[in-house]
Amino acid sequence: MKNKKNILTIISICIFFCSFKSENYFESSKSFIVEDKPNYLALYGEYIFKRESCNNCHTFNQTKDTSFVSLDGLKGKYPASWHYNNFIDPQLFAPDSKMPPYFVLFDQKLNQSIFKQIYPNQKLSDWELLLSQAKLIQKSIQEDGETVESDTEVLALIEFLNNIPQSKELQKLDSLKNIQMKMKESIWLNEISDDNSGVYKVISDKNSSIIGKEIFKSNCAVCHGENGEGMIGPNLTDSYWLSGGDQKSIIKSIVYGNPEKGSIPWAYILEPKEVGQLVGYINSIKGSNPKNAKPKQGIKE
Ligand code: HEC
Ligand code: HEC
Repeated sequence: MKNKKNILTIISICIFFCSFKSENYFESSKSFIVEDKPNYLALYGEYIFKRESCNNCHTFNQTKDTSFVSLDGLKGKYPASWHYNNFIDPQLFAPDSKMPPYFVLFDQKLNQSIFKQIYPNQKLSDWELLLSQAKLIQKSIQEDGETVESDTEVLALIEFLNNIPQSKELQKLDSLKNIQMKMKESIWLNEISDDNSGVYKVISDKNSSIIGKEIFKSNCAVCHGENGEGMIGPNLTDSYWLSGGDQKSIIKSIVYGNPEKGSIPWAYILEPKEVGQLVGYINSIKGSNPKNAKPKQGIKE
């Protein structure tokens, strides 16, 4: 008798947790499509996720356990065609990938009687809605130039993946990161506007050009060349500048970059001292006429 009670308790605990977990997705799915309706296609995808034991390698939370890959906050991270390709050939995106391909997802069609098991109290219109959701995913994949048959399971799994929300922990981490970025931004604002700030002072330090050279080699040379002669990025040794050659402009070019033109903002990566040292180095190579110099770009200063 006592044993039976124990078993019942365990079962109810399990039901509580299991329903808690799936309700999480249910809720997130709910917000996705038409009001009051859960995201049927995503629910179907969740079922496939479990059936294929994707959770042998994946979790939905950031964990310290590196044997699992977290899919936390995957919502909106990749277009449908990315997932499509990842299921055909995971090594396309991660050359050493341990993830197997999943051709079965492209062979098996979505099945109404399975959907009845996943979502028992459904109406015919729910199933039709699910199929129309699948068509949207199919369309988006086709627009990216891939072919995929209609009503295949892969469409549901992609919908599920594309609706995995951020966990509370990840949200916290993200907002922490945001705060840190904001702090860095305001530090830079002060550094750049005040002519007596650290970054300007460091530039003329005796050792700056030597230390700056090392920083340059490991961070900048890939795009500006070993000696600043220019490659993807412009030549930094001539007297032509795209964004200004005075000290303030050079600092700004490094700190804020020009992401649209392929120039990285270093504000979040380098400290003011390091940027000052880099400018010291850039000053020291001015007029050095390195080999293979890239033709002039910008305005002479
Ligand atoms: C044998 C382990 C394994 C299994 C099983 C597995 N994966 Fe993966 N998956 C990985 C690994 C490892 C990565 C990380 C990138 C890499 O090395 O391939 C990954 C990456 C991913 C990514 C990209 C995550 C990101 O943020 O970039 C998605 C999405 C994904 N897997 C979905 C699935 C789905 C869905 C299934 C089940 C159908 C599945 N995986 C089964 C190992 C696995
Ligand atoms: C991924 C490539 C890349 C890396 C890495 C890179 N840059 Fe650049 N950089 C560029 C490009 C591209 C431009 C030109 C942007 C434009 O067209 O406005 C540029 C522009 C600049 C400029 C302005 C030049 C001008 O003519 O006004 C400076 C200064 C500069 N980079 C310094 C650096 C320093 C210092 C580093 C290392 C901390 C660095 N860059 C790393 C690509 C890069």
